[in-house]
Amino acid sequence: MTRAARADLGVITIDGPAASGKSSVARGVAHALGVPFVSSGLLYRAATLLVARAGIDPGDEAAVMAALAGHAVALEPGTTANRVRLDGEDVSDALHTAAVDAGVSQVAAHPSVRAWVGEQLRRVPPPFAIDGRDMGSTVFPDARHKFYLTASLEERARRRAGERDTDLAAVAAAMARRDALDARQLAPAPDAHHIDTDALDLDQVIERVLEKLPAGAASVP
Ligand code: DC
Repeated sequence: MTRAARADLGVITIDGPAASGKSSVARGVAHALGVPFVSSGLLYRAATLLVARAGIDPGDEAAVMAALAGHAVALEPGTTANRVRLDGEDVSDALHTAAVDAGVSQVAAHPSVRAWVGEQLRRVPPPFAIDGRDMGSTVFPDARHKFYLTASLEERARRRAGERDTDLAAVAAAMARRDALDARQLAPAPDAHHIDTDALDLDQVIERVLEKLPAGAASVP
């Protein structure tokens, strides 16, 4: 794929609920195209970690925003992984813990936090593939290629339990709670392609996405 054709892809948005596979799909699609991927949830997770470390009430929107204004949160997109720095410290490995999982929906529900995340993401130079909840509907409404992944609660809980090494019923219950909290952010963009991933493995979902992109887009192995 030529550099011009790659630049022409612009922003590829891949949205969906928790554990729908969107991060892995965004990473795989980006790899096939030879462009960076961006995981927008990491910024919400970093904000949640900051709030927890500072002992701030995650429900206090003004206090959360004051903490964000007083610290440097930097997302570094890449072709194989994203890193996040908090005041220069690489906190990437601390963002996928049960404690962050438990607090992140509350932090992400604040409109000013959502505006702050959108601002950080719109500074990333395209082309890239990005995963999230509202990338296609709100942050990048003009993106040329939008996808929305779905999967049943049972299947998503199975996938997440494998990642977190905890019991399936507890994971399913926590996920149902998080779905309810995240529901406001979950409206798919009207022009997104929907892909039901229940019966598909990761490579098949990536293939479905690539099929919808301009011919020849996935010529980079
Ligand atoms: O995709 P993830 O599981 O890393 O996201 C973590 C949390 O951040 C999730 O509970 C919802 C929130 N989130 C959001 O509200 N909007 C996004 N674009 C991405 C994540």
